[in-house]
Amino acid sequence: MNMTLTFYIMDRLSQAGFYEGMTRILVTGATGKTGTHVTRQLRAKGIEVLEANRSRGFDWSDESTWDTFLSDVDVAYIAHPDITVPEAEDDLRRFGKAAVARGVRRLVLLSARPEIKGEQAITTSEAEWTIVGPGWFNENFTLAGFAEAVRRGRLALPLGDVTEPFVAAADIAAVAVAALTEDGHRGRKYKLTGPRALSFAEAAAAITAAGRPVTYVPLSPGEFIEEFTADGGSRADAEHHITIAAMSMGGEFTAVSPDVEQVLGRPAIDFADWAKAQDWS
Ligand SMILES: NC(=O)c1ccc[n+]([C@@H]2O[C@H](COP(=O)([O-])OP(=O)(O)OC[C@H]3O[C@@H](n4cnc5c(N)ncnc54)[C@H](OP(=O)(O)O)[C@@H]3O)[C@@H](O)[C@H]2O)c1
Repeated sequence: MNMTLTFYIMDRLSQAGFYEGMTRILVTGATGKTGTHVTRQLRAKGIEVLEANRSRGFDWSDESTWDTFLSDVDVAYIAHPDITVPEAEDDLRRFGKAAVARGVRRLVLLSARPEIKGEQAITTSEAEWTIVGPGWFNENFTLAGFAEAVRRGRLALPLGDVTEPFVAAADIAAVAVAALTEDGHRGRKYKLTGPRALSFAEAAAAITAAGRPVTYVPLSPGEFIEEFTADGGSRADAEHHITIAAMSMGGEFTAVSPDVEQVLGRPAIDFADWAKAQDWS
């Protein structure tokens, strides 16, 4: 076969996703808010996925469980359960080393918008890397964080009228999938937001319009600590939330990023459209 024909066939196979289909991708946090979408989107492309979480035998706190998940894997999506805790940096450093030692050539790390210490554990690894750094997920209103308050119809937070460009987990996953499967994202950190910043009152109004009546009640830090602890939460957790709220109140995170649209070639999902697509029953 002459070289031109060989290259032509290789090119057609590549366009048809043949080589992508040969790749096996490890998805950590596979049952989480982003991991479920990453897994679904990769499988829709015909890519073999190896899902990792505790019920499947993978535990971030036990390195001896990692090895079998890193066998015959080319690429890995890394969603640590909490990138902001101090032990995350060490977990990620050891995971990055183990992955490279087992032949993983590309790592995509789920982080956050500000530079998080744990990122360096991956950006200094010998693998190709991409960081996805999202803002607050829309899914905080349905699956975690504010979900219980939304169910009760009263979202009481020490966040005043700060605005936040909430981002859909499906968009975070779509950018991660692009970085996992395509060239051209190496060495990049993408800041991922929705297409507009909403106040918590506007987010509550969008959820109400979508069928789940909820009112936003701005609290002072003192009022928040009182309500949170009266509800059974610890004072330490309440203070942690206040610290994060204070960062948001500084206005540092209200900016909309163009990165979702630039990577995906379509606008990010709007919060109101996302809210309408949820099952609030
Ligand atoms: N929520 C936000 O607004 C936001 C914003 C920016 C960044 N982030 C970052 O996003 C990350 C969370 O990602 P996510 O929201 O996609 O996940 P998630 O919904 O919080 O789910 C966590 C995933 O990790 C698994 N997991 C938990 N503990 C584990 C352990 N010890 N060992 C192995 N797997 C474990 C869980 O499965 P099992 O429980 O079955 O093991 C689950 O699949 C965190 O690092 C967070 O800091 C979140």
